[in-house]
Amino acid sequence: MLSFGRDQTTLRQDKYAIRQRENSDSQAIYELLNQPLCRQGMLSDAFNSAAHFQSWVDNIDTNKFNIVATHETVIVGFAGLFVYPENRKHVGWLALFVHEEFHNRGIGALLMRVVIAAADRVLKLRRVELTVICENHRAIDLYRRFGFEIEGRHDCFARRADEFVDVYTMSRIAEKMSRVGGDFTRRKQAAAFDSNSELQTSAPL
Ligand SMILES: CC(C)(COP(=O)(O)OP(=O)(O)OC[C@H]1O[C@@H](n2cnc3c(N)ncnc32)[C@H](O)[C@@H]1OP(=O)(O)O)[C@@H](O)C(=O)NCCC(=O)NCCS
Repeated sequence: MLSFGRDQTTLRQDKYAIRQRENSDSQAIYELLNQPLCRQGMLSDAFNSAAHFQSWVDNIDTNKFNIVATHETVIVGFAGLFVYPENRKHVGWLALFVHEEFHNRGIGALLMRVVIAAADRVLKLRRVELTVICENHRAIDLYRRFGFEIEGRHDCFARRADEFVDVYTMSRIAEKMSRVGGDFTRRKQAAAFDSNSELQTSAPL
């Protein structure tokens, strides 16, 4: 069960907690993103320092919702939802990474639950989109469970080490989800956020 901790800013499920990213997390997030399995799932070039990661986040000056998953004091996951400016204000793009020693323990799903609830209930986005490497079956499977659909395939989209990788673009359209109506997960997410609106979207998320 997902519930708010005593401080009212941390969501807890079993051994893991979710809270908003803080600037002091940058070193841990930088190290997480540079783990081999995370690098494998990443389309952009690696960050070369914690400061590089920090300045990248700071330079995205539109609305953003960034969270980390923690296990005791260790950061075991990072999810970022970044809203586009101007006439794409209704759209956010998603990034998701879990510490490689903690894969397959439900942390990705936990981060997704909170991010999607924020997209629906706080940011009120109509569309969330992402790009994922075609062979990343674990991630694709997870995204599908949260209502994402493959929109297109882009061959030779980016270079990764010595090869070119093919990607899918995926999106989740809020309107389609509400049409489903009986989506149990979504109703539970909504309930969690209706009674606890502490997770705000002000900087530095
Ligand atoms: C993708 C990622 C975020 C998933 O995080 P996670 O914490 O391992 O995910 P969860 O444990 O919540 O769920 C994994 C699910 O995928 C399933 N899975 C595992 N391997 C799989 C595979 N090869 N194919 C399909 N599904 C798979 C698991 O069974 C699990 O499903 P279940 O909850 O029904 O048992 C994580 O693997 C990761 O950080 N990868 C590297 C970075 C990355 O690729 N990010 C995505 C960029 S688009």
